[in-house]
Amino acid sequence: MTVGAKLHILVSAGATREYIDPVRFISNPSTGKMGFEIARAALAAGHQVTLVTGPTHLKPPVGAAVISIVSALEMRDAILEAFPACDVLVMSAAVSDYRPSKRAHHKIHKSNPSLTLELQLNPDIIREVQRKAKGQVLIGFAAETEEHMASARQKLENKGLDMIIANDVGGKGVGFAAEHANAAALFRDGAEKPLGVVTKARLGRFIIEQAEMLVERKRAGARRAWRP
Ligand code: CTP
Repeated sequence: MTVGAKLHILVSAGATREYIDPVRFISNPSTGKMGFEIARAALAAGHQVTLVTGPTHLKPPVGAAVISIVSALEMRDAILEAFPACDVLVMSAAVSDYRPSKRAHHKIHKSNPSLTLELQLNPDIIREVQRKAKGQVLIGFAAETEEHMASARQKLENKGLDMIIANDVGGKGVGFAAEHANAAALFRDGAEKPLGVVTKARLGRFIIEQAEMLVERKRAGARRAWRP
């Protein structure tokens, strides 16, 4: 199903890096592949795409407006700036939950047998965006290694999302950097759709089809609410 109008879809992809000193950082193995496939599917369906991405070796899809960021705080600024003009946000980025409380200006040389790093919580970007939303559809990912569905449902509710993809990042051959994902979609109305092991390209197309339907549904709901 395709919505009549072209949508503006904002996609976040990849990992963020939280620098400890100029040569070391905290991150995760996300390559950005999932987010790039979502962007590719959106472009193929005729939508306008803004892609906010962490560092990656992947070539961005032709036609997307690409914003490159490094840290979670930079991703937050980029998403908050682009969000008001978009119809759908898909947060597939693996945002680092913590950053070092202090970033050393120079390389930390080894001196002591142990080193303690103090970390501080990064802002929850999609949660922050949800508070500013004016009818946009919000789609998140839940990176899980256990209790996938229960944990994803909790994130969907806590973050006020329309849909969340429960994504197994602990299984063999799926998850970070893999060609495939083992996924399920969960919706705000309680519906669940297990997808099993699928290519990230296929999952990207599924997400865009769902996004189109969720936009239609939200707009129809808003029209009904306006009826005198
Ligand atoms: N997310 C975000 N900002 C953060 C952390 C996560 O916007 N600082 C988004 C992710 O892009 C994803 C969703 O929130 O769409 C869930 O991310 P996930 O890492 O699975 O969960 P967390 O909220 O970080 O919770 P936990 O680390 O406890 O699993």
